[in-house]
Amino acid sequence: MVFKMSEKERVRLIKEIDSLRKEIEGRLVPLERISPGTPATFISVGGGELGDLAITAAGRHFGGARGGIISVAFDKYHGFPAQDAADYTEVFDMMDGDQLEKMVKKYIPDPRAPHAIYLEVERIDTQRAYKLGMEDGYRIMSTPYGPLVCMDRHATKLMFEKLGLKMAPWAYANSESGVREAAGKFGLPVIVKPVMTSSGHGTSIVRTEKELNESYRHSVEHARGVGDEVIVEKYLPEVKEKGTEITQIVVRHFNTEGRIVSTCLPPIEHRRPGATYHESWLPSTISAEAASKCREGAMKIADFMGGIGIYAVEQFVVGDEVYNNEVANRPHDTGLVTRWMLNMDEGALQLVSTLGMPIDPSMVELSRHGAFGVAHVVLAPEGIKEGTTVQEFNLKGLHAGLPGGLKGDLWIFGKPTAYAGRRMGLAFSYAVSLDQARANAERIAHMAETQFVYKG
Ligand SMILES: Nc1ncnc2c1ncn2[C@@H]1O[C@H](COP(=O)(O)OP(=O)(O)OP(=O)(O)O)[C@@H](O)[C@H]1O
Ligand SMILES: [Mg+2]
Repeated sequence: MVFKMSEKERVRLIKEIDSLRKEIEGRLVPLERISPGTPATFISVGGGELGDLAITAAGRHFGGARGGIISVAFDKYHGFPAQDAADYTEVFDMMDGDQLEKMVKKYIPDPRAPHAIYLEVERIDTQRAYKLGMEDGYRIMSTPYGPLVCMDRHATKLMFEKLGLKMAPWAYANSESGVREAAGKFGLPVIVKPVMTSSGHGTSIVRTEKELNESYRHSVEHARGVGDEVIVEKYLPEVKEKGTEITQIVVRHFNTEGRIVSTCLPPIEHRRPGATYHESWLPSTISAEAASKCREGAMKIADFMGGIGIYAVEQFVVGDEVYNNEVANRPHDTGLVTRWMLNMDEGALQLVSTLGMPIDPSMVELSRHGAFGVAHVVLAPEGIKEGTTVQEFNLKGLHAGLPGGLKGDLWIFGKPTAYAGRRMGLAFSYAVSLDQARANAERIAHMAETQFVYKG
């Protein structure tokens, strides 16, 4: 069950965070040594590519179970990306709280043992996760209340307001007339978003009076049964016209003195022609003043929310102005580019920080200098049916299709089936010029897309 709050409960939750944070942080202890005799357990609730990056880090950085870190991954279907990488896996519906609790307790019978539970996906029983964290003493990372704030746009806006952060003008509405009223106040265009969604489900940009009513209906119909409450925002066309988008990741972690601190990663820049992640790169091209505002906003959020682990703050940047949009209390798909561009990628940082190990600031610095590195999604074709199986990937075709000199890499996630537009992999390229790196990454991605052979 996804925990759905009333307006009053949201206000109360934001007021309570100070005390919840103190309670949670008071229980956290640094992990000073790892030992195969008394291993720490890392559970990724969700084993897509983001979970895979954290699970594989247990092996890459620490030798896995033999080094002292047991990795466990849950997901709802067989063949999920982290399934072959984790020491133990379970396949079940994570929206079922009883199952979720049973599986957590199977691998971590005693919550006092060193462990961390990373909520990689949103489609889980967040109320049960909250209870496991607040009442049973499990280390739900970054915090047990994180999903309640970060998955709820209204709660997120209330937090931004409390922290004095700049954002697009917004209003809450739960009726067509409420949407109208907000639009009247801001002027068209506006963007109408269900309170609880991601990947653009139920969201619409409204440019005409006629579209206003449709936008509310669209939200109610497409937002998985929780679309009757919406946030209306002033749509900022200048973001796409002359601005850009940033994901400012902050990792909260123990330092070598055993204190919890927040460290910012370099800002990740991204572009999205549609509603979902398309390409992202490092370093960003924003001004020093904008970068400083990005860091300032994200640090305020991470320090307010507390706990340990990654916070990813989505921001719109126009010139030197920064508008905070939303927050993920976990690694972010645009951050997958860190795999090739930072000393430690966001998966490894999530693993290390949530288990309570110290992080040195040099770990989050750029690993490649004098070049832009761009990651570009590899998607399944439009027009294929849900459940279409992946038969093969033609490596020879890929190499034949790409001329020499396209410096890059390809990460195939290994998903067993596809649907139209499903993310199947990620292409990467780097070059001195950003335009060149973007063009190369796109070239590799599009060539890779044609090398999958699907059946069914
Ligand atoms: N007020 C706005 N003005 C201009 N562009 C906006 C505004 N709100 C959203 N967008 C555009 O729409 C995209 C998606 O918005 P948002 O992140 O709020 O929705 P989402 O459904 O959570 O998407 P995702 O899960 O992919 O992050 C933004 O990244 C941005 O490109
Ligand atoms: Mg977003």
